[in-house]
Order: sequence, then structure tokens, then C-alpha cells
Amino acid sequence: MKELLASSISAVTGLEEATVAKALSIPKDLSHGDIAFPCFALAKLWKLSPVECSKKLAEDIALPTGFSRSESNGPYLNFFLERSTAIKKTIQGCLYEDKRQAAPSRGTIVIDYSGPNISKPFHVGHLRTTIIGFSLYKLFARLGYKVVGVNHLGDWGTQFGFVYAGCLLWGKPADDMNELVGRYVEANLLRKSQEAGENLDKPLVNDIARDYFLRLEAGDPEAVEFWKWNLEISKQYYLKTYSRMGITFDSWNGESFYVQFFDSYAKELKDSGLLVESRGAYGVELGEPLGFARLLTDDGRTLYMTRDIITADYRENTYHPERIIYVVGAPQSLHFKQLREILHKMKRQVAEKIIHIPYGHVPGISTRKLKTGSGDISLDALLEEAHERAKEAYESAVSKRPEGIDVEKVAEAVGLGAIYFNYLSRTNNKEFHFSWDEALNFKGDTGPYLMYAVARLYSMEEKAKDAGILPSEHCDFSKLSEDEAWDLSSIVMRYTDVLERTATDYEPCNICNYALELAKSISRAYLQLRVVGEEDIESARARLTLFIAARETLRSTLEILGITPLERM
Ligand code: ARG
Repeated sequence: MKELLASSISAVTGLEEATVAKALSIPKDLSHGDIAFPCFALAKLWKLSPVECSKKLAEDIALPTGFSRSESNGPYLNFFLERSTAIKKTIQGCLYEDKRQAAPSRGTIVIDYSGPNISKPFHVGHLRTTIIGFSLYKLFARLGYKVVGVNHLGDWGTQFGFVYAGCLLWGKPADDMNELVGRYVEANLLRKSQEAGENLDKPLVNDIARDYFLRLEAGDPEAVEFWKWNLEISKQYYLKTYSRMGITFDSWNGESFYVQFFDSYAKELKDSGLLVESRGAYGVELGEPLGFARLLTDDGRTLYMTRDIITADYRENTYHPERIIYVVGAPQSLHFKQLREILHKMKRQVAEKIIHIPYGHVPGISTRKLKTGSGDISLDALLEEAHERAKEAYESAVSKRPEGIDVEKVAEAVGLGAIYFNYLSRTNNKEFHFSWDEALNFKGDTGPYLMYAVARLYSMEEKAKDAGILPSEHCDFSKLSEDEAWDLSSIVMRYTDVLERTATDYEPCNICNYALELAKSISRAYLQLRVVGEEDIESARARLTLFIAARETLRSTLEILGITPLERM
């Protein structure tokens, strides 16, 4: 509908169609109209005031089909849709044309998310990047972009030295992630105590670690073998957790992958004079406020930043993306500003494509066994807890459960849905306190509430079918004359707009708010628009078709958030 309107406005005003389409917005108060055109750009072109433009445009424009009238309101010209046509178009577009799965003809987007650090515990600290990143992944794919999801594993660095030291001191454990992490933790504790002047009779952890990492960087076979063993155990372990969470990646190229390309960068940086020595390290001086970015240690080893420079180049040359989105905690904001600036100085176009999406810390996450602040609650422990609590919440909130329902399956989906929605429903960069009770409340603004709304509509469809009522593309949409039907359709209509907006501000909370708005409108309509038991069969059919369109919209909205809606629960 927007396109039609944009073309009509463009025809009478002489403004570009794309400019008009961009300016068209949805009035906050729907009684003012369904689509608004602000006349500010037109005022410049016509050399009149925006208010005068709005009045003149109202007289000149030929309303496209599907619109009933226009009304000038100050500098805005508001348009009203012809309701039954709009409802019909929306439902048909949603259920029968499948044009939402836009052609994959848009550019490529690289999304860098999760990136846990191998050997360190895979704990809840990496949950938010994983959830936000994967949701953006789904969003861009849905909008027809080619998306490359990358897990930039922290698989290179001194931490392996600590694991190595731990294994040297306390023996190499079996192929088990928890034991490996245990070695890391133990060695790290010993290192700290040694730095405080204690336990100096024991071998010095820092020395062992440093020596190990130097050997690793130099390609010493024993060091490499140990590292590979470590990496394999960790990867297998992560894969299990990700698969339980429904999270996937297209590439697992971690930091270690880029070290092989380092030599040519070292040469380039030196030759260009960018690399300078400062305070015992080599790096690039970026001036105020970015400061000095370290690229090499005093003994010539690469650092996190060095590997990110190479990574950006590699992604540019391999995927030719239009954007590279890094979903990484807010404390790394300076790192990404420096990265852009260094690439800029190296005259790399990719500098302009780097988008850092920072996110805030989530204090307060705890399990019954581990209290808040212990910091090392593993993702596994969290998922177990989610399952257990979801089961309790479901059993107490839903007393009329479908016959033969698999409660464990429901608990698993609800537990994840509760966490995902709770995490995604706030602005990325805001810190928030996680609460299980809040996240699992079936009556609150939560994942379980939304999942239940979807299941309820599946069950409605089932009952309608038993009563001989089936949805149809050719039903009489003019029967949908109630305000509740219009309200619901006009929310369904906005689906693509909400997704497109999120593709520019990277805030999945837009989608969460939209899902809630949709579910609440579904609830109101559910109470008012009877399907089974409605005497006028044409009305019943049209209503059912509308409900199914709303359900499909809600379902795909939840899928973008990484939530798996169930048909029965
Ligand atoms: N391993 C990093 C961390 O835990 C995240 C990696 C982010 N990606 C990147 N290209 N720097 O903080």
C-alpha cells in the first residue's frame, strides 16, 4: 500500500518516489490516519510552508485504490485506508503470497557473535552476544540478505599457557571440558598468588605459560599438538551447548586462523611507518581520544587487535560484505573504534563497514546452586535450570494441558524462550537484572506468554476444522468490519516495517515490542470475534483466516528472536 501511495505522491509533487517512501510514516494515534506524509521536504521544493503544502497536496492528489480519503493535519497529510481492501491485501500477502521471504538478492552481512574464549569457562557472560547476534542473523536472512554468521573463537592467546601449566603441574586430564577448565582455573589462582609473593617455591605459572605460548607461536610440534587437543575438546563441548540452544554459525574461524597471515601485515605496518614503539610495546599511535593501540608484545607476539585487523581484511576479501556487525560487550567500544581507525590509516575501505553493537552486562543471573555474582555459572548449568524452572512454571500456569503432551519438550522450549525474550526485550546497551520469575511469567510480557498465544490459535484452528470451518484466500473479507479486526490487521500490516527498522538500528527489542502488541491485539480479538459458534459461516471463515494470518506473523516474529513456538502446549 505504501508503494502505491508513494508513487501517487511522487507523480503530483515531483519528489523522487524513494524519498517519499522513506518519509511515509505511521501516525502514533491511528485515529489521525493510517499513513502520514510529512510535507517538510515538499515545502522546500514548492517554496510554500509545510502547512500550505499539505493542504494543496490534499487537493491535487489522485488517491490510489485502496485508500478511502486524505486529511490535512498541520504539516502532515494523513491517509486513510479503505479497510476491507487493506485487510484483504494484508491477509493474502501474509498467507498466500509468501513474499515475506524476500528474494535473497540483497547484499551480504557478516555477523560476528558469541566468540567464547577457549579453555576459559563458557559462562553466562557470553549469553547476550549469542542471543542478540543470532537474532540479527535471523532478521537479516528473513529480509533477504545473504548472512554469514561467524563465531570468532578466542582460540589463541596466553590462556592456553595457563591450561598447559595446569596440566604440567597436576597432570593432563581426560578429554573432558570441565577438567580442562579446572586446570585453567587452578593455574590462574596459583599465578595470582605468585604475583602477590606467595607460593614461590612452586614452578612459576607465568613463566611456563609464556614459554609455552612462544613455542606455540613458533610452531613447535608438541605445543601445537597440545593446543589442537584443547581446541577439539572445547569445540565439541560448545557444539553441544549451541545445538541445545538452536544456535548455528556459518564459520568457526577463530583468532588462531588469522595468525598465519601475520607476516605480510608486519611488513606493511613497518614499511608504512604506522608501527611505533611505546612503553615497551609496538603499536599504532592514534592520538586523542583513541590513544595508543598495541599490536605486538615486546617479544613480537600478535595481540587481539592485530588478529582483528587481519580478520577484517579477510572478511572483506572473502565475503565482500556491505556491513560487518560485531555483537560484543560495551567494554570493547574503544577496541572497535581503534580498529576502525587503524584500518582507516591502512587505507582499507572495510573500515567504514565495521559496526560495533555494544551490549550491557546482565547481573543477577543465578541458579539455585550458584548465587549471583559467582560469575562462572556455566551455560550448561543455566540451561538445566531454565528447563527445570520452566517445567514448574508451565505446570502451575497451564492447568488444562493438551492430552498426551510431552512436558519435557515444552519445558525445554519454554525455558529457552523465556531467557531469549527476556534478554532481547531491552535496548542492547542497557544493563538489566535478570529474574527467573519475571522471565517465566505466563501472564507477563514474556516469551512463554507469546508462545502460549501461538499455541492457542493452533488449537482454535483445530476446533474450527472439527466444526467444518476452514480458512480461505477467497473468503468474504468485508465481514471483518469490527474495530478489533481492523486493529489486528493493521498490526500485521506493519510486520515488514518493524523488521526493516531493526535492520537499521540493530535493536531486537523493536521486534519484542511488536510481538507483544500483536499478541495483545490477538487476545482482544479472541474475546470479541467468535469463530466456532458463530452463526454466519462467512464471518466465521473470514475471522479464522485473519487469526491464522496473525498467528503466522507472530510465529515468524518469534522465530527471528530464536524462540521455537509450539503448536500444542
Ligand atoms: N572473544 C572475545 C571476547 O570474549 C569476543 C570476540 C569478538 N569478536 C571480535 N572479532 N573481536 O570478548
